[in-house]
Parts: sequence; C-alpha cells; structure tokens
Amino acid sequence: MKLLLKISALVLVSLSYFANAELKDAYTYSNYDQVTTTHIYLDLDVDFQEKSLSGFAELSLKWLVNDVQPIYLDTRDLVIKRVMAQNTAGNWVSVQHKLAKRDDVLGAKLTIAPKFKASKVRVYYHSTEKASGLQWLSPEQTAGKKHPFLFSQNQAIHARSWIPIQDTPTVRTTYDARITTDKDLIAVMSAFNEPNTERDGDYFFSMPQAVPSYLIAIGVGDLEFKAMSEQTGIYAEASILDAAVAEFDDTQTMIDESEKLFGPYRWGRYDLLILPPSFPFGGMENPRLSFITPTVIAGDKSLVNLIAHELAHSWSGNLVTNKSWRDLWLNEGFTSYVENRIMEAVFGTDRAVMEQALGAQDLNAEIKELAPGDTQLYIDLKGRDPDDAFSGVPYVKGQLFLMYLEEKFGRDKFDVFILDYFNHHAFKSLGTEDFIVYLKANLTHKYLNVVSDKMLKEWIYGQGLPSVTPKPTSNAFNVIDQLTQKLVTKAINVEQIDTKAWTLHEWLHFINNLPLDVNESFMSDLDKRFNLTVSTNAEIAHAWYLLSIKAGYKHVYPQMATYLESIGRRKLIVPLYKELVTTEAGKSWALEVYKQARPGYHGLAQGTIDGVFNL
Ligand code: BES
Ligand code: ZN
Repeated sequence: MKLLLKISALVLVSLSYFANAELKDAYTYSNYDQVTTTHIYLDLDVDFQEKSLSGFAELSLKWLVNDVQPIYLDTRDLVIKRVMAQNTAGNWVSVQHKLAKRDDVLGAKLTIAPKFKASKVRVYYHSTEKASGLQWLSPEQTAGKKHPFLFSQNQAIHARSWIPIQDTPTVRTTYDARITTDKDLIAVMSAFNEPNTERDGDYFFSMPQAVPSYLIAIGVGDLEFKAMSEQTGIYAEASILDAAVAEFDDTQTMIDESEKLFGPYRWGRYDLLILPPSFPFGGMENPRLSFITPTVIAGDKSLVNLIAHELAHSWSGNLVTNKSWRDLWLNEGFTSYVENRIMEAVFGTDRAVMEQALGAQDLNAEIKELAPGDTQLYIDLKGRDPDDAFSGVPYVKGQLFLMYLEEKFGRDKFDVFILDYFNHHAFKSLGTEDFIVYLKANLTHKYLNVVSDKMLKEWIYGQGLPSVTPKPTSNAFNVIDQLTQKLVTKAINVEQIDTKAWTLHEWLHFINNLPLDVNESFMSDLDKRFNLTVSTNAEIAHAWYLLSIKAGYKHVYPQMATYLESIGRRKLIVPLYKELVTTEAGKSWALEVYKQARPGYHGLAQGTIDGVFNL
C-alpha cells in the first residue's frame, strides 16, 4: 500500500513536471519555476575603450521549492570572474560556478550551486565587445561627433549578453543600479532618472516597479535634457534636442488621453531618449524612458504614432506582459490597437483610419511573403531565434483582431473589457491560453452569440487573415486611387495634381499603390515635380526608393546609398536590400553599399542583412 502511494505520488510529480515543461518559456535556461529573482542590483562601469560593462550583478532570490536546488542563469558572451552567495544568516561565501558551452540562440547556461538556499547571489563579470544587446558607437557615429555612445536593446533575449539573469518575460524584478562612466557623459536607464542630474560620471538609478528582463535598459552619451511638461521630457544630443522637443510636444496630451481610456499611467515620469540613427528599431518601450529613432523627427509630427506606440506599451507590454515570445502578439497587437486609439483621440479619426489602412496594406503584402506558420498570432517559433521570426503579423493581425472584437461588441463594452483586462493583469505576465480564458469569461461568453469559440480559434491559431477581417477604408485614400488611375491612363498629367494638402499618409498611399510598370519618364516627371528622391521624410524616401528599384528608376541610387549608409533602422533598410538583391546588377551594387554601411549597423541589423545576401 505504502509503495503504491509512493508510486502514484511519483507519477503525479512527474506528470506535473512535464506539464510545467510544456508551459515553460523555451528561451531561458533558468529554473524560474524553482527559484525566482525579485530584485536586481547592478554595479557596472562603462568602459568605452574596452567596449565592456564590468562589475557585478546581485540577484535577490525567492525560493518556490523546499529543497536546495542549483541556480541556473542565462548569459551570452559574458566573462564570469567569481560568484558569491548569501546564506539566510546574512553571510557571504564564495561558491563554484560553471559556464556551459555556448548555444547560438540561447547563449551559455551559468550554474551556481551553493549547498544552501541562497537568499542572494552576486556574479562578478564583464561583458564583451560581442554583446548582442549593446551597441558601442564611435564619436563619428553620433550627431555631435565628439563623444562615444552606448545603448542597449534587450528585447527579445539580449539582456543575458550584459547581465547574468533569468532572462524570461515571466520573471519580473525591481532593480537599482550604480553606473560609472566618463565624467563628461550622462547615463540614463529605464528607471527613475533625475532630470537635473549632475554630470559627474557617477549615476544611481532605482526602478521600484517590477519589470521583466527585456525592459532593463541603459543609454550613455553626451546627452542633454529638456522638459516638455512636468511629467515628460527628452534626452538627446544637443544638436537635435530642440527639433525633438518640437516634434514630440504632444506627448503629455497622449498620456492624458490614454489615461482616460486605459486607466492611470503607473510609472511616474515618461521621458524619451533619442538615439543615433543606427538604432535598429523605430522605438523601444523601455519603462519611464522610451528609446526612439531620430528618423521619426520629420518636422511635421507626421510620424509621431511611434510615440503613441511606445507610450501604449506602458499598459500593453510593460504593465501586462507576454509570458513567452510565442505570445508576442499580446504585447504588440494590443499596443498597435491602443496606439491607434491614442492617435484617434489626439489627432482625429481621419488620421487614425489612414494609419489603420496603411498597416493593413503592408500586412497583406507581407503575408504573401511569409511562411504560412509565421502568419499565426500564436506563433510556433520551433527553436528559432525570436529575432528571426519578427514580422508585422503580431502587430497588425493582432490589432485587426481587437478591432474586430470592438466592432462586434461595440466600443462601450469593448472599452470596459480592455480597461478591466489591464487592471486585472497589472504587473503580471500572461500567455495566449490565459488570455483566451479571460476573453471568454469577460466578453465572448458574457455576451453570447456574438463571436463563436470557433472564430476565436481561427483568429488566434489560424493562418493568414480570417474572412471577417475588418477592412479599414479611408475616403482620402479613395480620392488618391481615382487620381492615380487618371495619371497612369494619362487622362491627366503630373502638373495637374494638387498635393499641397496631402499628409504623409496620403503620400505613402499614393507611392505604395503606383503600378510597378510605370516607365522611367513617369518616375522622373514625378520626381521633378515633388523632389521625392531627396525627401527628408524617412518613410517617404523609403517608399519612393522601393518603388524606384522595382520600376528600374536608377536616378535614386546615389541618394539611396547615402540613406542606407546613414540609417540603421531595420524596417527602413531591410526591404530595400531585399528588393535590390532580386537582380544581379542590383545585388552587386547593394553589396558595395552594404560593405560601407555594415560597420555602422547594429548587430541585429547586420544579422538580418547578412541573411539577405546569404553571407
Ligand atoms: N517592442 C517593439 C520593438 C521590438 C519588438 C524589439 C520585438 C524586439 C523584438 C517596439 O515597441 C516596436 O514595436 N517598435 C516599432 C514601432 C512601430 C510599430 C510604430 C518599430 O520599431 O518600428
Ligand atoms: Zn511595440
């Protein structure tokens, strides 16, 4: 009898182990289901000569199991010097550590095995030049040309390249940091930043809200700060600070409008850090301090939906977090939806609908290029690096799904649902299955016979777009379509179109929907009239170059080379390289440009574009 009990207990334990293994984030070596980090203290020196962060990370631990277990941490390309552990009596002792062989996707597992349940561990280490989450810029790569610059980009799994850590969005920690660096540089972090900090090379940060590892961030450079309101301000190099302040001075209004819709902004200050143009993304939602590409400073606020997007993450993503990278759509789909609601509240429905329509057009084109499995919201990453599976699907398909629900249940009910969803899951991480349970209980089973379970399944697990997908239509775009029709049939000529009142969105719609078989003289007529080749709007230039490559309009090439060499934002440059390599001549031209540009790109962009050339 006793034996039987023991056996069945064993079976139960192993069953629950496998259940956990199923649900575990596949992108961490950490045994976060046994021991979890509650707080991190970083003490790091920023060494621009060595391109290294060195010092220690101290992790406060909470044990979820009774017996002593080893502690496994994620690292990648770190040099570990020694490890200490604190026992329950408060004494620090040295402990052995072991660094496993490096895996290309996951990095190297660090094993720390004290003979007691440590309440804290301290890892002394330094990062290396190879750190995938850091970009070290030379002075020439900055606006001021005098000082170096450093920034981090942790999402998805790059925190481990500069911090030994439980690198999974399931684990949330508060953190403090002391950062030392050259005394004429300013360091900032995704934490409380003192707006009037003394420039002395020695900085303290405190982040009292628990955040996942991918939201720990650092920037160091010759920065200045300017307030936009009491709560918001901008860190940037001096030469672009005023332009950035003018461009983004609606930020406070965006916060106010978001709070009306989605509940209080819970992070204290909201500042922006404007990075050098090699930043590989448009923006990154680092808490209290969004990181922003300078390529959105267009002079006319036409690209500020990016700010709405990063701000929106203060609710969707930072407050309510995807628990694994397969659930990225919970972060980005909700954020794209919230972003658009903010844009509607601040800039009106016409603009919001144009932005929806442009997003949907891009998504439709992208879906045709993607492997079918990558068009699912709940994506099967199959052990791939999450960076390699990045696409517009979690963003726009996720947004369209939420627009569909809004349409079906009506805005009043849907707004209540979203507000409750954020409050209910505040400072928690959840997965797709958890979301479905919540969605059924609070919307689709609460108000019956509006949206079936089958339809939910199709949206979340299905490929491509469901037949019921909302199709945002903009009157302004319809007008442009008619005009384009007349232009290409030569019913009117370029001189006869009046574009004075066109917004960026109308321009993008116009360029993106011109037929590809337009001839060189058509392109050249447009260019002469509207100077598109030298457009200072990075999105217009991108759209025009892409069309020019497809249409064989070679005149843009010198200017496009300058563009590719001066911008490192993946979304703007990767599609151009991809289009160029489709012809032999284009490929050899692009390769020459890439040789020049590559050293200035971030590792992430280098990785993607190396892939385009099969290097
Ligand atoms: N969090 C993302 C950037 C990201 C996603 C980095 C996945 C690494 C892995 C950020 O909020 C983002 O979505 N940026 C977009 C903004 C755009 C959709 C307005 C970008 O960079 O283009
Ligand atoms: Zn985002």
